Amino acid sequence: MRRIELLLNNPLYQEYMNYNEIEEAEPKFCRHDISHHIDVARIAYILVLEQNDLNFFIKESNLSGRLAAKEVIYAAGLLHDIGKWKEYRTGIDHSSFGAKLARDILPQVFFNPNEVEIIARAIYEHRNLSMDMSFLGERIYRADNLARICINCIYRKDCPKLEKQEINTSTFEY
Ligand SMILES: [Fe+2]
Repeated sequence: MRRIELLLNNPLYQEYMNYNEIEEAEPKFCRHDISHHIDVARIAYILVLEQNDLNFFIKESNLSGRLAAKEVIYAAGLLHDIGKWKEYRTGIDHSSFGAKLARDILPQVFFNPNEVEIIARAIYEHRNLSMDMSFLGERIYRADNLARICINCIYRKDCPKLEKQEINTSTFEY
């Protein structure tokens, strides 16, 4: 996963992740740190493997093979909330802004234009479930919800996401 190592070490990626950390220095409901991003990457990959969907994804997305597909899934997970800091600062939606940031970063770590499109679209789509979302967008959306362990969270009773049922804590089923 050479390109994922390059992504994690990319100066722009690290700069934006650092902005997320700065904006979440005060207690907030959910953190959008590196742990959350790694959780979402791993869970999204598990969801694809569990459903035996990796070959389908490779073919549907015109990817070069299993390694490329794994790197695309991981890159989407690792980048999906990269624009969260901007939402705190300006109110702009973090999924559309994050997709824009991902388009700048991904070519620097050798993702090709087709792969950049697939990843950026998934980031753009990851906030809401919809009928016409992409394969990867849906997996990132589900992984994002499954990644939150709310059961012991001290902010549970005040959490707006739990209130709106955006997070599913009752089951680990896909
Ligand atoms: Fe997230």
